[in-house]
Amino acid sequence: MDHRRPWWRTAVVYEVYLRSFADGNGDGLGDVPGLRSRLPYLAGLGVDALWVTPWYPSPMADGGYDVTDHRDVDPRFGTLADVDALLADAHTVGLRVVVDLVANHTSAEHAWFRAALAAGPGSPERSRYFFRDGRAGGNDPPNDWISAFGGPAWTRVTGPGGPEQWYLHLFAPEQPDLDWGSPDVQEEFDGIVRSWLDRGVDGIRVDAAPAMAKVPGLPDAGHAPGASFASSTWVDNPHWDVDEVHEVFRRWRRIGDAYDGDRLFVSEAVVNGPERLARYVRPDELHTTFNFDYLKAPWDARALRAVVDGTLAALAPVGAPATWVLSSHDETRHVTRFGRAHSAAAVMGFDDAAPADIGLGLRRARAAALLTLALPGGAYLYQGEELGLPEVEDLPADALQDPTWERSGHTARGRDGCRVPLPWSGQRPPFGFAPAGVRPWLPQPASWASLTVEAQDADPSSTLSLYREALRLRRELLSEEPLTWLDLGADVLAFDRGPALRCVVNLSAAPVPLAGLGRPLLASEAVGAEAVGDALAPDTAAWLAPG
Ligand code: NOJ
Repeated sequence: MDHRRPWWRTAVVYEVYLRSFADGNGDGLGDVPGLRSRLPYLAGLGVDALWVTPWYPSPMADGGYDVTDHRDVDPRFGTLADVDALLADAHTVGLRVVVDLVANHTSAEHAWFRAALAAGPGSPERSRYFFRDGRAGGNDPPNDWISAFGGPAWTRVTGPGGPEQWYLHLFAPEQPDLDWGSPDVQEEFDGIVRSWLDRGVDGIRVDAAPAMAKVPGLPDAGHAPGASFASSTWVDNPHWDVDEVHEVFRRWRRIGDAYDGDRLFVSEAVVNGPERLARYVRPDELHTTFNFDYLKAPWDARALRAVVDGTLAALAPVGAPATWVLSSHDETRHVTRFGRAHSAAAVMGFDDAAPADIGLGLRRARAAALLTLALPGGAYLYQGEELGLPEVEDLPADALQDPTWERSGHTARGRDGCRVPLPWSGQRPPFGFAPAGVRPWLPQPASWASLTVEAQDADPSSTLSLYREALRLRRELLSEEPLTWLDLGADVLAFDRGPALRCVVNLSAAPVPLAGLGRPLLASEAVGAEAVGDALAPDTAAWLAPG
């Protein structure tokens, strides 16, 4: 490893969806002390850093992405002292911690929004958000913009004299968008960014980054009636990926650069293609950005190779490393996705829930792990993927909490199926997620008894063992070596990363001979290297030592 390069260029970052990771206080909801108690597991897994989803005070209209105080911790998740203890313990075991910054919007319960409602039209309080008069005598929304959770992006407020202005929310109505043209907003978030960097966090994940600038005058976007929030297809959209958004990131980068220790800014940005994405990681902006094109690609060698090549080509001119991600708290778990006929990802839980072959999906997911962890740059793992968890597709309707469910008129179940609390141990729910007898905030399937950490821990053929071994080898063998493709046929992804590692992924329907390709190090469907044999079966992958 080259220790002069910043850690984030090659880091494997593990996403902790805090509500579902580990419950330390027995209320059925994950929390900071629960996470702290499981740090030895994460250190043993072999990841470099954690991204922890929001812990801020919140009414939880969108799982904590509706924040009332960006500098504090919700009592359900713990205290600032718990966060300090988490940071100290994480650093002791060699893990870095990245916090989630939700700056496009606040909660509708935030003091600023309450003040804006009370102050009325034209007030300075309203200028921190987007309040506008409606069209058609005030009765229609000010423009045609849409919410990521379905329906219009505007909600009308009622004043003392009856219905009056509308306010903008690109997400739920409980998440009013801030106007980043407002100096108040800019200065407040300078202080918030500093407050977390001062506390010692190693990085900041920027939520909904492309939303943080709007075209002045808020012109119509030209959305068709019933359009979905397909931001990866939009061109010149007035509420997404607007060029002025980059001013915000330059401002934050100047703040971050004044700190020691290679602090990281990583953005969540679903935009139209790798060239638009590369603009977020220009040398004076953010350091890295999630690569959603990779996550959204189907299990198809040509499609995946096109994403890898397109990503690397677009990032080379700006000098930023790629990131590779297969799942998150917003997407169908990839064991299930790869078990579907179409296998590409849908937007924000607007999934058609086509039937899935979970056995096939798991086989592909294990192969995909070896692909992901061999690609150049960093990788993001989503909690539970190291256990091979599938999406939970049969949550009872009355358990669903994602705003997508209500906003879609109960047509899209949303993202709860990937957010079911982790199974740690034992034979029945709550599987060690919470103290025995406590009901987790979402029900866990009884069938997860065979997928717990405890059940997989000592089994060399388990998905957990595969991830641990892949992460160990990655640390030992890989740094910033470039990728060189080998030609083993159009349905096979094969490449070298320098002299030490060759990765072969078979996406074809026939076995791929391995003779002459090198000494097997690890395979997605074999116990240890010895059992790989002389051919790689369909939907499996292997790492080899060439030469
Ligand atoms: C992206 C987050 O990952 C998602 O969970 C959230 O609903 C939206 N941003 C809005 O904050």
